[in-house]
Amino acid sequence: MEKTYDLTIFGATGFTGKFIVAEVLKTAPKAFPGQQLRVAVAGRSRERLEQLVASLPSTENPSGIQPVILVADVKDEASMRAMCRASKTVIAAAGPFRFLGEAVVLACIHEKTHYVDITGEPEFFERMAFKYHEQAKEAQVSIVNVCGFDSIPADMGVLYTKQQLEKTHDALPSTIEMFFKLHVAGSAGVAAHYATYESAVHGFGSAGLLRQLRKAANRPSVPKIGPTLPVNPKPHWVHKVAAYTVPFFFADPSVIRLSQQLVLQDKDLATVQSPPVQFSAYICIPTFKVLAMMIFASTMFGTLARYEWGRNLLLKHPRLFTMGMFGHEGPSSKQLAETSFSETFFAKGYSRALRESVGGEEGLKKVEPDVAIVTSVSGPEPGYVATPKMVVQACYTLLKQKEKVPNGVLTPAVAFARTDLIERLQEQGIVFSTVQEASR
Ligand SMILES: NC(=O)c1ccc[n+]([C@@H]2O[C@H](COP(=O)([O-])OP(=O)(O)OC[C@H]3O[C@@H](n4cnc5c(N)ncnc54)[C@H](OP(=O)(O)O)[C@@H]3O)[C@@H](O)[C@H]2O)c1
Repeated sequence: MEKTYDLTIFGATGFTGKFIVAEVLKTAPKAFPGQQLRVAVAGRSRERLEQLVASLPSTENPSGIQPVILVADVKDEASMRAMCRASKTVIAAAGPFRFLGEAVVLACIHEKTHYVDITGEPEFFERMAFKYHEQAKEAQVSIVNVCGFDSIPADMGVLYTKQQLEKTHDALPSTIEMFFKLHVAGSAGVAAHYATYESAVHGFGSAGLLRQLRKAANRPSVPKIGPTLPVNPKPHWVHKVAAYTVPFFFADPSVIRLSQQLVLQDKDLATVQSPPVQFSAYICIPTFKVLAMMIFASTMFGTLARYEWGRNLLLKHPRLFTMGMFGHEGPSSKQLAETSFSETFFAKGYSRALRESVGGEEGLKKVEPDVAIVTSVSGPEPGYVATPKMVVQACYTLLKQKEKVPNGVLTPAVAFARTDLIERLQEQGIVFSTVQEASR
């Protein structure tokens, strides 16, 4: 079926959507030399879309691309179908995804349109995989969730780390511990836009729904290679990262688990990833004072988010409950420029010699891994600088290398394992590196 547009950004008028549009216009000429990418911007308000197109700075648009406007509202199925019918790929940026995401996924499957999004809501992406994986396969489309900061650095970082252990050191991966740090260079502090906070409030509030969904999905448990990786749930000081840590409470652990389960469960995906790995993740906190404030805020947040009245209170006073971090205005350009992130992966595996000496995987349960490496993924401000770069490169990868991306509802590491996405991200300043070669 001939499609009129190569790439449509749905939710283009949103705080993040605008950055994604700018990123496409900035990067399309280099990514598609000699070809004018056909771009559409989509959303529910023609007026706001017209304002967006009129405001696009020509200096940021060397391509000269003039995006076409498509009016589409998730409450109007015909408009969603028409948008997807005309588009080869859709970047979905309208959230909270639990309210706005499913209509886009469904329209993409019906109209055979490939899809990437920037959700970080486990209840949404696990539900999409559970409900629509087989339909997406039948329709021969790739629906790839969590292609922003949630969770490309972690999911592709785990893939990259496993590949380093296997290819460079001929080692069988066993465990990976990830430590996330937010770096703030100036005095302006960190901030994020309200919709992310809103997504988190509803996410915490629907923990029960997620439990039910996981029970219904009945996914296989991920086999353990080697002794069990201990997870420390209490806040504690970790010398090797010089920080206090708490367990990572955003989407990454769910995504990494789902990546491994999808491959175990669907034989059509079995070729895309190496053996499973035990994974745990922590957030690094620089000082005891910040740690104490965070424990206080997250305890209050977690308690209130359980009740409807509590969620309403949280939604009404975002600044109060997040120490000024979340608000309707979003971060300033100074805050964006002064923030960056890093994720460090401490990985262990078994050398060929040790594997052979213990007579295979069963024997490994009793011996500690003998190869250790440290890798890292780092980049600019995660939410509104790195996320647009990542989701746009994920979408370009679908446009350029679809034959290497399986069909179905997928996570990034499953979708892009055989593509050049990591090299593309490196070119955009999302750096994957090995910081410490194997020690034995
Ligand atoms: N993964 C990450 O790291 C990451 C980073 C940033 C954001 N996000 C996620 O991205 C989502 C958007 O965040 P944001 O801050 O950009 O939110 P936002 O500024 O509130 O934008 C929401 C978008 O959804 C659109 N929308 C609302 N209702 C709609 C409907 N019925 N039909 C069609 N479009 C509709 C809005 O259109 P109007 O302009 O017409 O209201 C707007 O374009 C959130 O879920 C957030 O958590 C994730």
